[in-house]
Amino acid sequence: MSNQSLYGRSDIATGYAGESNLQAPEETILRELIPFLPTAKMLDIGVGGGRTTLHFAKWVSEYVGVDYAERMVEACRRRFAGYPDTISFQVCDARSMEQFEADSFDFVLFSYNGIDCIDHEGRLTVLQEVGRVGKSGGTFAFSSHNLNSAVNFFEWRRMISLDPRRLRRTVKRLFLRFVYNRDVKLGTVRNSAHTLLSDRSYRCKMQHYYIRPLAQIEQLKEHFTDVRVFSLITGSEIKDMAELETVEDNWLYYLCRIK
Ligand SMILES: C[S@@+](CC[C@H](N)C(=O)[O-])C[C@H]1O[C@@H](n2cnc3c(N)ncnc32)[C@H](O)[C@@H]1O
Repeated sequence: MSNQSLYGRSDIATGYAGESNLQAPEETILRELIPFLPTAKMLDIGVGGGRTTLHFAKWVSEYVGVDYAERMVEACRRRFAGYPDTISFQVCDARSMEQFEADSFDFVLFSYNGIDCIDHEGRLTVLQEVGRVGKSGGTFAFSSHNLNSAVNFFEWRRMISLDPRRLRRTVKRLFLRFVYNRDVKLGTVRNSAHTLLSDRSYRCKMQHYYIRPLAQIEQLKEHFTDVRVFSLITGSEIKDMAELETVEDNWLYYLCRIK
């Protein structure tokens, strides 16, 4: 089943609509942006069940949440039915956002690895589209799976622990490697800047794009500047290039300025 079909399932939309908490780097980013949000028009791409709506929409002058899964949009409309009409939701694929004019938004968010549901070509198109609908000098924030973290289910020493308390984790890692990614070559994971890997989300197998942090920074250069990276674990900015080369958080948040 494709990622789009999975996100279109009502049980998955209901699951996402029950989520409320921000991740640590999202909290950091929100705190940093608060001074400029009251005058900002925000586009929340891949809004899912509206987890981020809860935290961001109240700060901005206008908020538009979009998702390519109709059921997610319906779930958001239900969840935020009593909210002011400065908050709206639309069905829209991030790869072709023709319904929005150029330079429409001051802040664009694509949270919780939504961008990783898309293949490499599609991802480049999304970045171009964000650059188009976002105002020059505006802000783009998103997260993406960290390819450095794949060592945990591709390198034997990381996969297996003899500690019985780690049995569940060992089984999960062996499953990821030998069931979900049995056709993926270790060399691909070791040597690529980015690749597609299968993992588990909402009890479903999904294919996601994983990228190394320095490759992500490079990929953003065409449409964005001032790229900053935030740790999933601590929520803090990782400034040190050597650390970015080796950091193994499962995913990282990126914050950048639209050119
Ligand atoms: C992991 S969920 C995250 C949902 C929500 N942003 C959150 O943080 O709770 C990813 C969301 O991105 C949406 N998505 C993935 N690819 C998309 C695309 N090309 N255009 C629009 N939405 C997309 C999915 O339908 C899904 O709702």
